[in-house]
Amino acid sequence: MGGASGRLTAWPPLAKWPAASPTNCASRSTIERQVAAADRVITALNDFARLPIPQLEPVGVDTCLREVLEINAPPPGVELDLFVNPPDLCVLGDRTQLAIVFANLVRNARDAMPEGGRLRVTAVGEGELVAISFEDSGVGIPPDVLPHILEPLYSTKAKGIGLGLSIAHDIVRRHHGTLTVTSQLGKGSTFTVRLNACDRSS
Ligand SMILES: Nc1ncnc2c1ncn2[C@@H]1O[C@H](COP(=O)(O)OP(=O)(O)O)[C@@H](O)[C@H]1O
Ligand SMILES: [Mg+2]
Repeated sequence: MGGASGRLTAWPPLAKWPAASPTNCASRSTIERQVAAADRVITALNDFARLPIPQLEPVGVDTCLREVLEINAPPPGVELDLFVNPPDLCVLGDRTQLAIVFANLVRNARDAMPEGGRLRVTAVGEGELVAISFEDSGVGIPPDVLPHILEPLYSTKAKGIGLGLSIAHDIVRRHHGTLTVTSQLGKGSTFTVRLNACDRSS
């Protein structure tokens, strides 16, 4: 991370900008904000392009979700439920990459509930699959926005980069899984990841 920041902030025209004066300080801070935003996009695209082939191993779903929820804890106004059944549910996946998928879904749910609400994370066995759902009670997704949310660089947020879901979708596809979404405007959204369960006989 951060590989692009040095290059952009040391960009010669910006470094040579004259010392702050009443006339140029507003423009300078605008440029610096734009550079910081471009830097975030470049860094995220770099990370996306370098995603390695998933290293599959048995991943305990409960532990993985708890770790992600601890690092990306929803704010106090968001009530959190975690339900994993059976508790030893296990998927075949790349632990690091699955954590990226879950973290993106948790962060999006958090963003969708600026006034607080409820995030319900559920993992259940479905035969040879495990379904992991993130259900929020947030703003929901308008029908005209829904078809675009998996597209790279598509965001409806003022400071959004629009890569979280496309990265999540790409990782899930590389695991031969699926990512689906249902949403009701003003009521909330549910994102569900389906992955192959571990072969318990092996
Ligand atoms: N849980 C959610 N509730 C409402 N809208 C969502 C949710 N998750 C994703 N979205 C929509 O999908 C868009 C793309 O999400 P994402 O790829 O993570 O990019 P970003 O979070 O940077 O905007 C968001 O800008 C938002 O419009
Ligand atoms: Mg996001």
